[in-house]
Amino acid sequence: MKEKITQEFADRFGGEGTLYVSPGRFNLIGEHTDYNGGFVFPGAIDKFIMADIRPNGLDVVRVYSIDIDEETAFGLNEEDAPKQSWARYIFGVCREIIKRGGVVKGFDAVFAGNVPLGAGLSSSAALESCFAFALNDMFNDNTIDKFELARIGQSTEHNYCGVNCGIMDQFASVMGQKGKLMRLDCRSMEFEYFPFAPKDYELVLVDSRVKHELADSPYNKRRQSCERVAKRLGIETLRDATMEMLNSVKTDITAEDYFRAKFVIEEKDRVLAVCDALMKDDYETVGKKMYETHEGLSKDYEVSCEELDYLNEVAKECGVTGSRIMGGGFGGCTVNLVKKDLVEPFIATVKEKFNAKYGHEPRIYPVIVSDGSRRYEE
Ligand code: GLA
Repeated sequence: MKEKITQEFADRFGGEGTLYVSPGRFNLIGEHTDYNGGFVFPGAIDKFIMADIRPNGLDVVRVYSIDIDEETAFGLNEEDAPKQSWARYIFGVCREIIKRGGVVKGFDAVFAGNVPLGAGLSSSAALESCFAFALNDMFNDNTIDKFELARIGQSTEHNYCGVNCGIMDQFASVMGQKGKLMRLDCRSMEFEYFPFAPKDYELVLVDSRVKHELADSPYNKRRQSCERVAKRLGIETLRDATMEMLNSVKTDITAEDYFRAKFVIEEKDRVLAVCDALMKDDYETVGKKMYETHEGLSKDYEVSCEELDYLNEVAKECGVTGSRIMGGGFGGCTVNLVKKDLVEPFIATVKEKFNAKYGHEPRIYPVIVSDGSRRYEE
């Protein structure tokens, strides 16, 4: 990928820039908890966006996406927003840095990636984090701290891309460390690295290839449900809610809002239970909690789809230790905790069965926990 990008940069703009990379993410447990002030447990993966970037001394950003095969140019004022959705991620990052008093000047860039799009692996956060990191390095002497870089990506989603996401994806992309998961408290923003190298298990992502698209999706509606219930309970976020509190307002809220909030409250406890279990190397409990999360995401939060439920069912049939929808839902991947000796037979079975039912094989990605945003060094 590196050669392709640097060659393209030389052909379009002449000479060379500086290379930056930023990864996608997976999440062990803690789904739809980030915007509720809860806990998440993500790690960066070995799939990333890579960009070659160089200041151009103009007031214009010129950027070429190799994967989409499109070049666009835009200015740095609010009214200069580009039409292409892929370019709005980059424009948004520039604007959010400027709004915070940071410096962004014109630059040329070429980028490409291998984070599958719409698979729930946060290709958009990888793109935002890559440019946020690069522009901090290039124009701001790295004075913007890493948390703020993640917030810049998140605000880009809110203000330029129509997704009211939480902080998990951008956080994981910026802060990731090889071989470590991160337990983040999304209320206090305190976090801890958790070495993750189970001896007898592997994590495998199974991509249904049902495209998920979060903009204008029910994602924002899920968030609104949670906010309505929190408001009814007189608390800031569902982080502070218990099932007793929820049950006490059951008759005042819609059944839909009730079940959304129920999932979030239960998921909060599951993350803590998984942390305890991990300390004891108790992967059976981790797996059990993953199945419970799937059930909740499917029945109560309703962000699953037929294909994802089927992948979960096949995992269970194969004796996989834990399996669940990963990320926002509505398509994309399941994450599976699989005993090492079961990995191959599971992959063979899930491919065959899924193909027989839906006419295409799912894609399989092993989870390789990797470093976050950085300057690319060989
Ligand atoms: C998407 C959002 C995240 C998070 C997850 C669900 O990936 O971008 O902020 O809410 O969905 O856990």
